[in-house]
Amino acid sequence: MGNNLKPIGVIDSGVGGLSMVFALDQLLPSEEIVYVADPLHFPYGEKNKNELIPIVSSLISFLTESLKVKLIITACGTISSNCLEELSTLFQVPFIGIIDPASNDAVKKTKTGKVVVLATSATIKSGTFRKHIQKINSAITVKEEAWPEFVDAIEKGLHQTEQWKQWIQNQLFRFQKENFDTIIMGCTHFALISSFFQDIAKTSFEIINPALSTAQEVKKYLEKTDLLNQSKLGSKRIFVRGNSTNIKKAIQNFSELQKIRPEVFPEMNQENKILYNSQRICTPASTPR
Ligand code: DGL
Repeated sequence: MGNNLKPIGVIDSGVGGLSMVFALDQLLPSEEIVYVADPLHFPYGEKNKNELIPIVSSLISFLTESLKVKLIITACGTISSNCLEELSTLFQVPFIGIIDPASNDAVKKTKTGKVVVLATSATIKSGTFRKHIQKINSAITVKEEAWPEFVDAIEKGLHQTEQWKQWIQNQLFRFQKENFDTIIMGCTHFALISSFFQDIAKTSFEIINPALSTAQEVKKYLEKTDLLNQSKLGSKRIFVRGNSTNIKKAIQNFSELQKIRPEVFPEMNQENKILYNSQRICTPASTPR
């Protein structure tokens, strides 16, 4: 098989990665996409790098060894901000994360020079978005906020209640008073609800959806490396490690993806050996808060 015909792998902890599958499907419909979601280890955003590397490595081994992907997109903000460098040394496959593309877009969009980053605790703790944005333009003010409870509400599909809408409105009002005009939805779960968020924010803010920024970056990369797949409409597959209830529900919001039947992440090979180490690696009790 020519390298350009190989699939693109996408990884995330839960429903949020669908934002990336959707963005890629819209921009690069010929590409084969394999998305691996890992609700078994959700939330990634409350774990540290040493916990995350083995968890994510098993997903990457599956994508590289079994499915021979040509590229892996770490749709997850937590992985992109904490683990990308180390994963690039552990695996031969190229990686594209969300930090660079989303930061570039935010810098282009802001008029007041003030950008908010909303993400998980682990992403905010790393300061990676702030460092990237200020590397591009050191004059930009960056406010970074972790909203872990809101991540959880989205994972469970509860974010559209009046209470959460009011809560979001209050936060936006606070940002507006401080003259922030651009918001990066710095975790996949927030990216997934970018338009819902834009509806609440009206025209007061530029909402940056990293999935859209990253899909553009992927296109440029595939063109540059001669890896574009232009053969036919590419298939989309979703593997789920853990309970697939939330993913199945979230897929229904995307008419283009509704026909996909999530598959179970493979645990055993024919000799009954664990292939990709998919037993729960972290217990909830061991995750730092
Ligand atoms: N996927 C994570 C991210 O984008 C958010 C959800 C989680 O904490 O696992 O950072």
